[in-house]
Amino acid sequence: MQHLISLVNIVKSFGEKGKKLKVIDGVSLDVDEEFLVILGPSGCGKTTLLKIIAGVEKPDEGAIKIRSNTTYGFVFQSPTLLPWLTVLDNVALPLMAKGVSKGIAREKASKYLSLVGLHGFEDFYPHELSGGMKQRVNIARALVVEPTVLLMDEPFSQLDPLTAEALRAEILDLWLSGVTTVKAIVMVTHNVEEAVLMADRIVILTPRPAKIVKIIEVKLPRPRDRRAKEFQDIVDKVYEYVS
Ligand SMILES: Nc1ncnc2c1ncn2[C@@H]1O[C@H](COP(=O)(O)OP(=O)(O)O)[C@@H](O)[C@H]1O
Ligand SMILES: [Mg+2]
Repeated sequence: MQHLISLVNIVKSFGEKGKKLKVIDGVSLDVDEEFLVILGPSGCGKTTLLKIIAGVEKPDEGAIKIRSNTTYGFVFQSPTLLPWLTVLDNVALPLMAKGVSKGIAREKASKYLSLVGLHGFEDFYPHELSGGMKQRVNIARALVVEPTVLLMDEPFSQLDPLTAEALRAEILDLWLSGVTTVKAIVMVTHNVEEAVLMADRIVILTPRPAKIVKIIEVKLPRPRDRRAKEFQDIVDKVYEYVS
């Protein structure tokens, strides 16, 4: 079957002639119906690569092929909720921007808020929520457009460790239960253990400019036990390739 997304030899630089900063240096990658994690050090070009996949940033060279009917939901690294809108209206907003009526948009928003565990918080404002709850709203807002591909940029990096771990488990449950429209998740992180916990495949990038060093398949059954020897063996293997 055709890949969901194919990146072919993507190259991207920022800046003007003379002081050009090369950020992506020839990345080729196929994404199938899977949980794909892109792992690399801070500043290596992960966010840029995710934006290129989403089509919000154009590569200088290379091509992106996308299976027809592919649509994206994007979870940004830092919360980007509008403070003057309720939780419900923040989640309904992407649908209303597409011309969906307020009633239907709110109905869908309410459904996806329930899926991320926020039933009962529809009328709250963002400032009344904890960091973890805000990130749940962000995830609901990405899901409400019923995308086939969910792109997540370090979605747990701003959360305290316990909240992050709980949310990771919930995202995996949501993904595995198949209750959403999402066929593939592409998540960016610099956290090796998180990558091994969540991914079907881990794409390891070099420091800037990003190139692919290695792709590691993680075949451990879920839920995965961080303390298991098999888990640690894969963590060790990944560390061999990160610099
Ligand atoms: N719009 C931009 N204009 C100029 N430089 C940028 C822009 N976006 C990112 N960069 C630079 O590209 C490099 C990679 O950034 P980014 O993709 O955000 O890395 P990561 O997400 O891996 O931390 C950084 O050095 C950053 O400063
Ligand atoms: Mg980034």
